[in-house]
Amino acid sequence: MYKEIGVFEYGNVVLEKLIPGLFLTTKKGDIINTMIIGWGGINIVWGRPVFMVLVRDSRATYDLIESSGEFTVSVPMGDNLQGAIKICGTKSLREINKFDYCNLTPVIGRTIDTPIIGEAKIHYECKVIYKQTLDQDKVPGAVKTKYYNEASSNNANHTVYFGEILDQYIFEKDK
Ligand SMILES: Cc1cc2nc3c(=O)[nH]c(=O)nc-3n(C[C@H](O)[C@H](O)[C@H](O)COP(=O)(O)O)c2cc1C
Repeated sequence: MYKEIGVFEYGNVVLEKLIPGLFLTTKKGDIINTMIIGWGGINIVWGRPVFMVLVRDSRATYDLIESSGEFTVSVPMGDNLQGAIKICGTKSLREINKFDYCNLTPVIGRTIDTPIIGEAKIHYECKVIYKQTLDQDKVPGAVKTKYYNEASSNNANHTVYFGEILDQYIFEKDK
């Protein structure tokens, strides 16, 4: 069952839920994948509603989003997805199929080819209209030390994607 929502109606919820994490889902051909994001949010750019996400270029997600130019964001609301958030925020598509492993249901997108996570509640379907890999020369020193430290295994650069929000809704699986 779908319930229509306004594009900015749950903006505050999106921000709050970024802390435990949102699902960023991507698809390339028959391959679907989801990972957890904690950075980003809903903005207005060039007069359009935009979901901004930052993806390190070491992620499997990076390859998929680069190929498809689209993504969905699914916001979990209850406690039912805590286990899946843990797995999807630490395991890569290169190790496991996270949809199978976490029993997540890919529900076909209404507007784009990429599915949403059936068990989450609020969903945004987005098409990339701009992307920019961070210029590390312009990143503040303290941030560089913390997030892009060569001594760390988690130091790949981020690309910022502006995904124009083409559709947004609440979805509930039929019982
Ligand atoms: C709470 C949380 C927030 C995260 N935020 C991001 C993020 O904004 N960008 C990013 O590239 N990775 C982020 N990650 C890490 C990815 O979710 C993780 O590396 C994932 O395994 C990548 O999966 P993939 O290789 O299948 O794309 C976050 C992880 C957690 C637990």
